[in-house]
Amino acid sequence: MIKIFYLIISPCLIFGIIFACSDSNIKLNQKDIIHLNSDTCNDPDRDDINCHFEYMPENVSSKVKIADDSVSGMRIIIKSRLLKSDGITPIPNAYLFHYQTDKNGYYPKNGNEKGIHKWTGYLHGWNKTDENGYCEIHTIRPAQYPTNDFPAHIHSVVKLNENSKPFYINDYVFKDDPLVTEKYTGNLNFQGGNGIVAFDEDSSGVKIGKRDIILNKINHSCPK
Ligand SMILES: [Fe+2]
Repeated sequence: MIKIFYLIISPCLIFGIIFACSDSNIKLNQKDIIHLNSDTCNDPDRDDINCHFEYMPENVSSKVKIADDSVSGMRIIIKSRLLKSDGITPIPNAYLFHYQTDKNGYYPKNGNEKGIHKWTGYLHGWNKTDENGYCEIHTIRPAQYPTNDFPAHIHSVVKLNENSKPFYINDYVFKDDPLVTEKYTGNLNFQGGNGIVAFDEDSSGVKIGKRDIILNKINHSCPK
């Protein structure tokens, strides 16, 4: 009986995952897939983009604190607007997932992470755009990887509504990072602008940056 189950279910499962990465119009039933195979999201390549939302809390606000006060580093706030291709019309009630390195360029782990967070680490969080398309990240400034071959960055994934397929936007990077070059911006793969954030400093010493995320084309490709 068990063999028959696997003969029928396994091909469907594999086909479902491949299809989810190849068809931009698909409506998701990803939770079912994830729950059928609990290891699907334990993937160092993060090929299944839906996994970024597997553990999203029920109540998500427009502000997310990725790094609590116990995490050392330069405190930053990034205020974003999610906009349609005209650069004006806000996109409300969209979910964003963010993950980043720490001040030493590592994705830090506590050892009790689940699913995709075994790879993204604990410096992650979700927020939801408000009625004006605004959302905020409160965190520490990430560092370049120890290899110093890629700009310091915050990865972000957008999910426009409960049932839509998520997609990556270009990383948040920082204007004063010497690795943010024309070569870097010339090789960007996703949408949402170049992601370059410049900081001003508020009266409390927190660095505050802004970004307009303009969605000019939906790219559902799976990152490598
Ligand atoms: Fe990264």
